[in-house]
Amino acid sequence: MSAQLAIIIVGASGDLAQRKLLPALFSLYAQKLLPAEFRVVGFARTPRTDESVRARTAEKLTCRYTPEPQVCAELMARFLARCHYVVGDYGSRDAFLDLADRLRQLTGSLGGGCLFYLAIPPAIFLDTARALGDAGLVSCAAPGDPWTRVVIEKPFGRDRASSDQLAAELARVFIDEQTYRIDHYLGKEVLQNLLVLRFANRIFEPLWNRTYVRDVHIVWKEDLGVGTRAGYFDDYGIVRDVMQNHLMQMLALTAMEPPASFAAQAIRNEKVRVLQAVPPLRPEDLALGQYAAAERGVGGRPAYRAEPGIPPGSCTATYAAAMLRVENERWRGVPFFVECGKALDGPLAAIRLRFRDVPANLFVNALPNLPPNELVIRVQPDEAIFYRVINKVPGLNLRLEPSELNLRYRTAFPEVIPEAYETLLLDVIKGDKSLFIRADELAAAWDIFDAALHAVEAQSEAPEPYPYGSRGPAGRAQLAARHGLELEPMA
Ligand SMILES: NC(=O)c1ccc[n+]([C@@H]2O[C@H](COP(=O)([O-])OP(=O)(O)OC[C@H]3O[C@@H](n4cnc5c(N)ncnc54)[C@H](OP(=O)(O)O)[C@@H]3O)[C@@H](O)[C@H]2O)c1
Repeated sequence: MSAQLAIIIVGASGDLAQRKLLPALFSLYAQKLLPAEFRVVGFARTPRTDESVRARTAEKLTCRYTPEPQVCAELMARFLARCHYVVGDYGSRDAFLDLADRLRQLTGSLGGGCLFYLAIPPAIFLDTARALGDAGLVSCAAPGDPWTRVVIEKPFGRDRASSDQLAAELARVFIDEQTYRIDHYLGKEVLQNLLVLRFANRIFEPLWNRTYVRDVHIVWKEDLGVGTRAGYFDDYGIVRDVMQNHLMQMLALTAMEPPASFAAQAIRNEKVRVLQAVPPLRPEDLALGQYAAAERGVGGRPAYRAEPGIPPGSCTATYAAAMLRVENERWRGVPFFVECGKALDGPLAAIRLRFRDVPANLFVNALPNLPPNELVIRVQPDEAIFYRVINKVPGLNLRLEPSELNLRYRTAFPEVIPEAYETLLLDVIKGDKSLFIRADELAAAWDIFDAALHAVEAQSEAPEPYPYGSRGPAGRAQLAARHGLELEPMA
């Protein structure tokens, strides 16, 4: 790690910077994971001073790693003294030259690592990148030299063509080696553990295939509506916001072959390979929905179209379910049911593998239909890994019941579970790209959805409504049923 580090958050007045990035940087600082000579410089158009930014930031920092109040307060004061703010326009070379001057004043040089985090809406990525390049701030370094790295947030384009175009334009400014495409889901502790679970344990790998697995269900859902990100969400919709990225990363980690090593290159090679083995989604295998009003809660819940900032006639989907296949020797014939949505019946992100039935039920008198074994990897909330097995209920007669072999992170591990952005920011600082999306991986994920998205958009039909707080539209169960899948709730 360089002795000197400048972290420049472009778009520092925004939600991501305030709510996630600055608290994550403080957590790294509290754990002594930042170099002694670091500076955090926020850049945005909103006029603010160093002092006002520090006061705002202080409200968002937590003492998770240093619960002792006095120690935490001292650490916060020292961290905040290293946070600064520069006002400027994103497309302005001169504004970034001012930023460079400020950095020189603060650090005495620009000699260490330089991390630019583009925490800005996608529409201004390119102008910002070009202005950074014109100001000479993203020079490519030789190995061992001071480095410049640039983090960009999804969404990366709207489809395969626009994503390729964005990548090509960005490549004029930053080389691929410098570019860190973040999908914060990959920083989640339970997902990082998935490769360990699969490949450091002998018991899972022999079962992890079409011979034993009946179906795979990957879910991401929120119990809240669109919230404050209405403009962005309405433009992109749930497939681009969640399915094409978070869910495909979860699928890739679940379905990939063992990598040759734990090196970034080897892991990403296998992720690309498995995504390329997923045929393009057929439009008829995609079910879309949009939340409608519900009477639940004080004053009820609004329909998507009645949310502030959403056009009353919006056809944007807030729910999507897709039936995918992985056409390779390991998975051929196993349905991968992936679904995501807002305003559903609870927050949950999880992967469930359901196993095939036992060939003969010896216990038919006690339990005529043995429920299938399940392995559930729950990413959030309440991180856990559990196996559902059939068990004899203690007693003098033979009574069978599904029970759980349960690894709950909160009870099993006394350690603080890191936030995804802590893990990912530290990896960028270390230059470890294992958890970042490679260009060909991004292209492979778009290829799965491109045709279906274009077909749906050509029809411009309103998605099927579902009540706020429900499990989704009726089309969800119909899609599953067409593929012979029963959708039991996931614990
Ligand atoms: N927020 C999240 O939880 C989250 C999660 C995943 C990914 N992301 C991605 O992270 C990036 C930043 O997200 P965010 O929620 O922090 O965004 P944001 O709050 O909407 O925007 C960040 C800042 O960019 C500037 N900005 C906004 N709209 C602009 C426009 N039309 N033209 C010029 N400047 C504009 C504003 O700063 P000034 O007006 O002060 O210049 C704003 O404070 C986005 O790419 C988003 O998709 C965010």
